[in-house]
Amino acid sequence: MIELRNFVKNIRPYKPGKPIEEVIRELGLTGEVLKLASNENPLGPSPMAVAELEKNINELNFYPDDNCYYLKNRLSAKFKVPTEQIIVGSGSVELIELIFKAYVNPGDQVIMSDPSFIMYKIACQIFGGEMVSIPLIDYRHNIQEMIRAITSKTKIVIIDNPINPTGTIITRDEFDNFIKKVPENVILVVDEAYNEYIEDESYPNALDYLSRYSNLIVLHTFSKIYGLAGLRIGYGFSSPDIIGAMMKVRLPFNVNRAGQMAASAALDDEEFVKRSIHNNEEGKKFFYKTLKKLALEYVPTYGNFIMVGFSKEAKEIFSLAQKKGVILRTIYEYGLTHHLRITIGTPEQNEKLIKVLEDII
Ligand SMILES: Cc1ncc(COP(=O)(O)O)c(C=O)c1O
Repeated sequence: MIELRNFVKNIRPYKPGKPIEEVIRELGLTGEVLKLASNENPLGPSPMAVAELEKNINELNFYPDDNCYYLKNRLSAKFKVPTEQIIVGSGSVELIELIFKAYVNPGDQVIMSDPSFIMYKIACQIFGGEMVSIPLIDYRHNIQEMIRAITSKTKIVIIDNPINPTGTIITRDEFDNFIKKVPENVILVVDEAYNEYIEDESYPNALDYLSRYSNLIVLHTFSKIYGLAGLRIGYGFSSPDIIGAMMKVRLPFNVNRAGQMAASAALDDEEFVKRSIHNNEEGKKFFYKTLKKLALEYVPTYGNFIMVGFSKEAKEIFSLAQKKGVILRTIYEYGLTHHLRITIGTPEQNEKLIKVLEDII
């Protein structure tokens, strides 16, 4: 066997939620299969994005604009950030990889919560970083411990806000305190993949801090509220230096043409965003009420997903639900053996899921 790079030997590959087609194939299911496993938008893609795609579909013979000029300008206007402080990637996961690729030397320390979005750990392993994992307290980031863990070897501190898979946030007061204590030679990454869903005033918008902190990177995505996960498009903001470094290590044409057009159009789709937030809020209320009735433990969530705890191993519940045509997400790789992560669906989907859970337990 040809030997792998040492850093790669122990990596457990990312395990996405199972695609509907795969479950149908494997289990020979015939009825409708519902996927509530990957925090996708249950209302579908932004209609404005779809219309734009349809209009321009005949241009797919051309390579995309390598610099995402038009989309960056749209983002710049919307978020009031100059284009040299914006980067677009093939999903925000690519941007996570670019940060590590540009900055992490073998042995550099990277501080992250355990659990938090699993790609931080995988990116750290790929580039030989030394992972410093800080356990959550009450399913929330332990900011104090993260700060305490910073040493002269620390290169990056990375948090998701809200956290995938627990759905909790750090508040503005906590963030104020946190960002001040991260030294300026340490990069602070704030991954806000679900930020658009959050209307709570105590949620800090990390972009508000961009002009004051040149070591801050803020990540957003079109995969969640805009319903464009299939096109793979995410974006990030930072200082011109950091964006320049990330641009240096990306591959050419990293963002596909369809993604660029759809994302630009989706930014105008305020009606769809509103509808998605409303659906999510109603879904959350429904889950809180029905999960309580079923005496199932859950963590109140700020995302478009909810983490539910069971008295037995989650694998069993996951398989039974799948046989009944509902795909959920186990989170064993996050160290949680008795929990499932469930995407909040449409009212009909949520009801179907609760019926399935009722049957199982
Ligand atoms: C916290 C967090 N960051 C990033 C991502 C990845 O998003 P993208 O589809 O933009 O790569 C996810 C996806 O589930 C996520 O939960």
